[in-house]
Amino acid sequence: LGTPVLTGKRVLISAGGTKEAIDPVRYIANRSSGKMGYALAQAAVQAGAQVDLVSTVQLPAPMFTNVIAVETADQMLAAMQAHFEQADIVIMAAAVADYRVANPANQKIKKDPDQKGLTLNLVENPDILAQLGAKKTHQYLVGFAAETQNLLEHAQAKLIKKQADLLIANDVSNHDIAFGSDNNEVTLLSKNDAPKHLPLTDKLTLSHQILEIIAAQMEE
Ligand code: C5P
Repeated sequence: LGTPVLTGKRVLISAGGTKEAIDPVRYIANRSSGKMGYALAQAAVQAGAQVDLVSTVQLPAPMFTNVIAVETADQMLAAMQAHFEQADIVIMAAAVADYRVANPANQKIKKDPDQKGLTLNLVENPDILAQLGAKKTHQYLVGFAAETQNLLEHAQAKLIKKQADLLIANDVSNHDIAFGSDNNEVTLLSKNDAPKHLPLTDKLTLSHQILEIIAAQMEE
């Protein structure tokens, strides 16, 4: 572990769940902790890479990492696009909200005593990975698929649809792994190679294994 397989490479990573504003004090969020993205960033630095980390969470930044703080999917898209050109490897570990509130209120929404419910209108967010996939040239592009059922089928479909080079499939129905956990277990899907299962381990060890596979695939 920690062998310098990425010396001279630039790695762009997104981490955490996006936060989509409802009003100035409330937002729609998800259960992503950002730990997988941060572990990948740390492993990439240890492997000799220069790392840009686009993050929605405030975890201790790995040493020598350039952290770009964002909240929303739109901000994450802009930050990813801004760093995409110079990147060799791009990893979308973030959990991007599929929808955002159409018209976030400028003032705190007050409870209406005459209304029993409140309806929020949502509009679709950009699919950042798919947009990067559509315009990639030299970049090696990696996505995650967090699923609760039919894991490999959904991940395989995303690999193709989003034009990624590698899809990391993550079973989030199992609470011992994935969201919020320090450990994870994944299956890697790529166009040419057979699915590769990486058994349960801590996220940093797993990140080193993932980066070594990416480095090897880039050599091919
Ligand atoms: O949400 P979904 O399962 O489609 O996510 C698969 C991959 O696509 C992940 O890598 C995620 O970061 C990315 N994604 C994205 N923009 C979205 C939704 C997902 O970049 N709006």
